[in-house]
Amino acid sequence: MRAITLLVLLISMCGAQTRSTQTEVQTEGQSTGAAAAAAEISTQLDIYAELKELRDMVVELRVTLRSTQDELKKMEAENAAVKERLVASETKVGALERGLVASETKVGALERGLVASETKVGALEKVNEEQETELTAVKNEMIKLISENAAQQTELTNVKTEVMNLIKVNAAQDTRLAASETGIDNMKVENAAQEAELTAVKTRLAATETEVDNLEKMTERSKVAFSAGLTNGHIQAGSTALNLVFTKVITNVGQAYSSITGFFTAPVRGVYYFRFTVMDIDRPGWLGTSMLKNGKQVMYMSEHEKDGTRIHVSSGVTLQLEVGDAVNMQIPAGNRVFEDTNRSTFTGFLLFAL
Ligand SMILES: *[C@@H]1O[C@H](CO)[C@@H](O)[C@H](O)[C@H]1NC(C)=O
Repeated sequence: MRAITLLVLLISMCGAQTRSTQTEVQTEGQSTGAAAAAAEISTQLDIYAELKELRDMVVELRVTLRSTQDELKKMEAENAAVKERLVASETKVGALERGLVASETKVGALERGLVASETKVGALEKVNEEQETELTAVKNEMIKLISENAAQQTELTNVKTEVMNLIKVNAAQDTRLAASETGIDNMKVENAAQEAELTAVKTRLAATETEVDNLEKMTERSKVAFSAGLTNGHIQAGSTALNLVFTKVITNVGQAYSSITGFFTAPVRGVYYFRFTVMDIDRPGWLGTSMLKNGKQVMYMSEHEKDGTRIHVSSGVTLQLEVGDAVNMQIPAGNRVFEDTNRSTFTGFLLFAL
């Protein structure tokens, strides 16, 4: 501060000197007197003294300035150090601020965690209360169960006694069962024998049924009986025997007789009875007929008509026939028969099958 004051003073003094010089020039143009010269010399001396003083002051000021400069350099160095420290501090502060922000974030998270934990704790407390209630209920139930268990043990003892009795009864029943099983085995054997017998009976039944069936068929076939007459008028045989067909069917059960061929065909093996009657009238001649079995004559009857009155021949025969054996009537060669109503007939029937 002191050095600055001195500098200001020095500058103002220099200004004064310049002004005085200008004045001197202007004055020089107007007058050149001796008094003025003497006065100038005195003034110059004063100026020198003043200059000397000023020079000293400047020297002194230079010293002061140097020390001030040194001080300033020192201060600058100090200032640089302070700045360095400030930068370091600011860096630290930045780091601390970032740390603080991170800490705050953490604190926030911890706070939220704490809130969540508190909520959980609240829930757990509630659960705990419920569990305690439940535990009390369970305890009560256990007490009840213990008393029930005692009752059940008593009951169990009773049941055991009963089971023992049942085991005894069971043993007795086992013995009976074994006996029954033996009985069953015997029955099985018997049953097998009966089944075999049944099979045999069935076989016999089937055979019998077949037999019955055959018998029924035989019975049906055994219903054999016929009677037939002739067409009205004379029938005359020539030089050879004439097959005599009784065309007027009176009865023909079993259809064994054919009114077309005049042949009877035996449907079953058996004993048959046949009979015939033939008649003649009007003029002299031979009345005659014969019966054939399988083409071989078994019966022959004839009469001679002399005076035109009615004459008859009639006969019957029992024949044993095989199935398919044929019986028919003939008019022998030169003989004749006559019919007007039912005088000439041919009859046959089965007596019994064989
Ligand atoms: C046989 O002829 C007589 C006389 O015509 C008749 O009355 C009778 O009904 C006849 N019999 C048969 C079985 O046709």
